[in-house]
Amino acid sequence: DIYGAERANSKGFDLTAPEKVEALQASMKAALTRPWTAGPIVGGQTLDGPVLPVSDPARPTRQVGTVVSAGPQAVEQALSLATAAQPGWDRAGADHRATCLERAADLMEEDMPALLALLSREAGKTLPDAVAEVREAVDFCRYYAVQARTGLKPVLLPGPTGERNELHLTGRGVFACISPWNFPLAIFTGQVVAALVAGNAVIAKPAEQTPLVAAEAVRLLHRAGVPGDVLHLLPGDGETVGAPLVADRRVAGVCFTGSTETGRAINRSLADREGAIVPLIAETGGQNCMIVDSTALLEQVVDDCITSAFLSAGQRCSATRVLFAQEEIADKLADMLAGAMDLIRLGDPMEITTDIGPVIDDDARDILVKHATRMDGEARLVKAVSVPEILRDGTFFGPRLYEIDGLSRLKREVFGPILHLVRFKASDLDKVVAEIAATGYGLTFGVHSRLEGRAHNLFKALPVGNTYINRNMVGAVVGVQPFGGQGLSGTGPKAGGPHYLHRFVTEKTLTVNT
Ligand code: NAD
Ligand code: ALA
Repeated sequence: DIYGAERANSKGFDLTAPEKVEALQASMKAALTRPWTAGPIVGGQTLDGPVLPVSDPARPTRQVGTVVSAGPQAVEQALSLATAAQPGWDRAGADHRATCLERAADLMEEDMPALLALLSREAGKTLPDAVAEVREAVDFCRYYAVQARTGLKPVLLPGPTGERNELHLTGRGVFACISPWNFPLAIFTGQVVAALVAGNAVIAKPAEQTPLVAAEAVRLLHRAGVPGDVLHLLPGDGETVGAPLVADRRVAGVCFTGSTETGRAINRSLADREGAIVPLIAETGGQNCMIVDSTALLEQVVDDCITSAFLSAGQRCSATRVLFAQEEIADKLADMLAGAMDLIRLGDPMEITTDIGPVIDDDARDILVKHATRMDGEARLVKAVSVPEILRDGTFFGPRLYEIDGLSRLKREVFGPILHLVRFKASDLDKVVAEIAATGYGLTFGVHSRLEGRAHNLFKALPVGNTYINRNMVGAVVGVQPFGGQGLSGTGPKAGGPHYLHRFVTEKTLTVNT
């Protein structure tokens, strides 16, 4: 019963009760006094090496912990241990592996204050975002556990041949799981536990910006029963750690989430490799659009745009980047949005009053500043929220709304709180659809319209992974809103969906002449 009590989504934490929030913040602060470190975790041991600081994007002078990057020796050791350990892990069976995931989910819930503290201080997540992220990680563990118990068992295929026919699903070998900083716990955990529960050994390469929360997740998975030889962590950057992993013939599959450019580089590297052709599961960037017609309820549109474009500092792959507004309502919508943007509070992500924390680092902010400078020259600035003086040390970027004359003004994904408004004539809706499809991206799409038929036709017309009608465009829920894109946005299958685990296994048919 994957949609019933056995797989109920996690409950999270009630952030509406002030006394509960204060108690939570106190336990998060207590967790932050621990000496947080991340190093290569290979064969269950944390390896030493030159130590670098991990700093808080909200206040870069504040050190959250330290990290040791993996060198070539750690990469080699992880590959060799994982290769040797994988067959035994595969033979241990789906039930045993699912039990480890379920234990890990429980441990993550128990470890909630530490995980929230790391998400907040290492990744700049606000409290609601951090809570949602821990819940998503927990949900991935429980959902894939149930999927494995029900879907990875050998299948008997009775039929006309008079023989016994069976289909067996086994792990592929060693999976490299390479993840981004914007969901450093949820996406990291989702990739790793899917690969593990399918019977693979895993070498996980977290984003260089967020190694601490990844290391904590690995420690919890080991405590939950995943052997040290089966799951390894290799912190470090993409070129020196990710690229050699992908290029190694012992890696039997790659699960990647990140930018479309890196996804392409990994695809090229796998294609150039000698030996077997291996699967790449890539979840990449987007150029996500929302269409609002003149029948839409504008108050709701405003609320949904604030959530989808600006909250999480716009650092969701699912975030709305372009708002197509029908010309009759475009001015009113722009005014209402500008008014609502005035109410957005930037601040310390651990404070409950904060709507938006920092962007991840200086590089991310520089890209946004550069884009805003270009837009200042070629678009109409509708609204810019300024960053309060007190936050100037952190990598904060104030939300902006620009009006542009067409989607072609945007050459690539802009990963932050900048929304672009394009007005359209009712008679040009088909052109808008063609323009969106022509970007080649297909991650998320939103429609606000009271004309139900029109909204459903738009859903059918666009090659997009996740379409949202009359609501915001973010926060897909594991198990009920499988998430992932098409075209430049990813290969599928969808994370948190019923077909995800199948890409991590290989199928073997057994025929016995009885
Ligand atoms: P990124 O591509 O820069 O990095 C992602 C990961 O790839 C990191 O761990 C990085 O170290 C590694 N990497 C970089 N170069 C590599 C190489 N040559 N070989 C192997 N690994 C390499 O992306 P990012 O900036 O961390 O994340 C933001 C991007 O991720 C955005 O484009 C966003 O849309 C996308 N994203 C997509 C989804 C989705 O589900 N589609 C979800 C979250 C984020
Ligand atoms: N799964 C995340 C969302 O839906 C990226 O926003």
